[in-house]
Amino acid sequence: MEKPPKIKTRLTEMFAMDYPIIGAPMFLVSNKAMVVASSQCGGMGTFPALNFRPIEKYESMVKELRSDLKAKPFGINVIVQKSNKHQYRQVEIAIEQKVPLIITSLGNPKEVIAKTRGTDTKVFCDVVGLKHAQKVADQGADGLIVVGSGAGGHGGETSLFALIPWLRQHIDLPMVAAGCMTDGRSLGAALSLGADGIYMGTRIIASQEAQVTDAYKQAIIDADCEDIINTDRVDGFPGNFIKTPELEKVLKPNFVDNILSQNRRVKRAVSLMRAGRALLGSQDQKLSYKNTFSAGQGVALIHEIKDIQSIFWETAANYRAQLAEMPH
Ligand SMILES: Cc1cc2nc3c(=O)[nH]c(=O)nc-3n(C[C@H](O)[C@H](O)[C@H](O)COP(=O)(O)O)c2cc1C
Repeated sequence: MEKPPKIKTRLTEMFAMDYPIIGAPMFLVSNKAMVVASSQCGGMGTFPALNFRPIEKYESMVKELRSDLKAKPFGINVIVQKSNKHQYRQVEIAIEQKVPLIITSLGNPKEVIAKTRGTDTKVFCDVVGLKHAQKVADQGADGLIVVGSGAGGHGGETSLFALIPWLRQHIDLPMVAAGCMTDGRSLGAALSLGADGIYMGTRIIASQEAQVTDAYKQAIIDADCEDIINTDRVDGFPGNFIKTPELEKVLKPNFVDNILSQNRRVKRAVSLMRAGRALLGSQDQKLSYKNTFSAGQGVALIHEIKDIQSIFWETAANYRAQLAEMPH
């Protein structure tokens, strides 16, 4: 298809992008081809620093992207929690290589923000509510990734329909809407709510560039909204997953669950224990990356595996067509 006209927002101005669309960072999913395709076609690709281990591999990947993408922007996602032992080095390398965007998740981004001041690197922070958003804004964040309910991975609990306008009332930073963003309609909705761009996660797992199993891509194509289950039984933290027979088996309440449901304290202790076990890699034996697929409720709108350029360009083109069709 012909390249659609640019869409100008604060996000595209900040990073010299043609379209306000970011390929979201996804643990074990984002790869070099996805980042390159997202950035080359006029959006921006990102990846979790932890996808490239050991740290030397991450450093080479950042250098390769820097040289392959030239002036095109890309971003890395850093988990700012003690569990990520290499977070400081990951940030230093990004700054040294002039990576345009660092996205922080989970912990307190204060140090990351401080380190990037006066450099070419901007920091956007994942937020799911006003308190954390206000805190990172006060710390000097350059923008927010606003994660709503129904998102793939470990999303938020609040609908983006309320969350974005709510944060917008209080905070004047560029905001990226994350959760169920799949096409031109969702881009239009996000921009009209007050966002400056969108994150696409689940949509680009069903892409030619993603190197996940065919079963994962097909599960996204086949699933509808009702097939998405929010559970902490996979890795200890509440997240959205596609209902598979293996996951359903694990979710059936058993004797232990029945006892736990009667005692909140014990329930919390067991939940923390399960989280710890999951972090150590011994998650429930019945579940594996072969049969457990994280995805958001946007699956209902994904019907085809496409290349990322087509996904981004169609989104931009359909957004314009959609605008023309809006009642007024
Ligand atoms: C398989 C998978 C892995 C993810 N891993 C990460 C991650 O490592 N870091 C992060 O900040 N977000 C992660 N996310 C969340 C995405 O960055 C993004 O917020 C989410 O996918 C947006 O919702 P959507 O999938 O409905 O588009 C992950 C999501 C998925 C589906």
